Amino acid sequence: MKSDQRGLSVAYFDTPVRWFALAAVLWGVVGMLVGVIIAAQLAWPELNFGISWLSYGRLRPLHTNAVIFAFGGCVLFATAYHVVQRTGQARLFAPGLAMFTFWGWQLVILLAAVSLPLGLTSGKEYAELEWPIDLLIAVVWVAFAVVFFGTVGTRKVRHIYVANWFFGAFIIAVALLHIVNSAAIPVSLTKSYSAYAGVQDAMVQWWYGHNAVGFFLTAGFLGMMYYYIPKQAERPVYSYRLSIVHFWALIFTYMWAGPHHLHYTALPDWAQSIGMIFSLVLLAPSWGGMINGIMTLSGAWHKLRDDPILKFLIVSLSFYGMSTFEGPMMSIKTVNAVSHYTDWTVGHVHSGALGWVGLISMGSLYYLIPRMYGRKQMFSVKAIELHFWIATIGIVLYIAAMWIAGVMQGLMWRAVNPDGTLVYSFVESVKATYPFYVIRLLGGLLYLSGMLLMAWNVVMTVRSGRPEVAAVPAVNVAHA
Ligand code: HEM
Ligand code: HEM
Repeated sequence: MKSDQRGLSVAYFDTPVRWFALAAVLWGVVGMLVGVIIAAQLAWPELNFGISWLSYGRLRPLHTNAVIFAFGGCVLFATAYHVVQRTGQARLFAPGLAMFTFWGWQLVILLAAVSLPLGLTSGKEYAELEWPIDLLIAVVWVAFAVVFFGTVGTRKVRHIYVANWFFGAFIIAVALLHIVNSAAIPVSLTKSYSAYAGVQDAMVQWWYGHNAVGFFLTAGFLGMMYYYIPKQAERPVYSYRLSIVHFWALIFTYMWAGPHHLHYTALPDWAQSIGMIFSLVLLAPSWGGMINGIMTLSGAWHKLRDDPILKFLIVSLSFYGMSTFEGPMMSIKTVNAVSHYTDWTVGHVHSGALGWVGLISMGSLYYLIPRMYGRKQMFSVKAIELHFWIATIGIVLYIAAMWIAGVMQGLMWRAVNPDGTLVYSFVESVKATYPFYVIRLLGGLLYLSGMLLMAWNVVMTVRSGRPEVAAVPAVNVAHA
């Protein structure tokens, strides 16, 4: 029980927060395990054992869907429901509907886990699921919006804390992106054709794809940054004014950058250039947000030394800064001419995915889970520290290997002899990449081991926890 500003008591409804948090850990392990399997298949293709549903082409979308929508999605639901109640001093609106979002989302994940290995796909990257599952996603998402905005609407404090702006934008934008991009004409229960064709289809797809990065993989996680870093550091946000500028600049700019995925294609040249320019502009709000998060620690840097949760949260921001510097560079057409189709892109993706999304999720869950189970901290703080180092070394191995491999591939493919013939055949570039695929696999194995350690720590915390006990008192009552 907490008291709101008028002294009335507020009982938070945390069941969906707990369940989504635990599901996130489970799906994190599963999604990363599939990532490790496909990384191994790239080094040793025979690891598909000739079984169609173990083939690379089917497991790859299973990996991306599992880590983005199952792992990332569950973290986003858990933290959005946790943060909106604390910052609004209000009980979750429509608790039954909130539980529906939990079960509905798990059903989506289950259907994805069955349909993707069977090869049922719409063929749109990050939107592979077929139309009946798309409809279910839309229903769950609308329910999510009702619960979230209902809670904002029934809040007991006048101010809407900035984290909720980011969560709110994420929910609205993803609804819009999903509904527009998934428009399709069904021909059977398991097959449909996109409502768009040709270059329009490509443009809609990458408007969706890039904003999936901007809103699914960034805006909601920035909401976490604005809540969990101040809480864990016991410091106010560095600049509240900057957070507002950050919000509006980020959501406005992201929407226009999609064409950088379609350089040198049939998309009109002016549209490609607009995509490139907005991507370059995007550096400013991205770094503004990163600086705001990191500087929240100013005056309390010493806490980084012995607080492993802060290490997760702050290092995630360093990776955020790195990938949002690299992205704008890769959007420059001449740079993209080298990076596109190569493992450089995969390196960029995973510096954002493992470094930013993964680490901030883990840090937030390490803050959240013990409090949801009536404990002050996780069962083993040493294990959090160990997890941090294993994960960080794993990321460095993964992304360094992909960067070197990517630049090498880009340069090998464009090397020409004086007579205009190619210096290298394609297979020579594949052969040269082999050692880097093995190093990436090693990095992935380390990252997965860290996640397994987290799963053990979470199980031990839950087993020794007392969920009936209210969360520990918070430093800032407004956000308790
Ligand atoms: C143990 C950790 C992980 C490993 C070993 C791993 C491995 C891989 C591999 C081998 C690919 C295919 C690359 C290719 O086709 O050349 C891939 C793609 C991808 N992964 Fe991961 N991954 C891991 C974790 C994650 C996480 C946590 C996320 C997101 C939060 C993520 C997001 C993606 C995305 C978006 C792609 C598609 C990239 C593209 O199309 O360029 N991965 N991953
Ligand atoms: C300022 C921010 C960013 C910009 C301007 C940007 C730009 C780019 C560019 C130019 C590409 C390569 C497109 C291509 O050649 O096909 C790319 C790919 C990608 N980026 Fe970023 N990026 C940014 C931040 C991020 C972050 C933070 C993440 C992850 C959390 C991320 C995830 C991805 C993914 C998943 C792809 C691969 C898409 C695919 O082809 O499947 N990006 N980005």
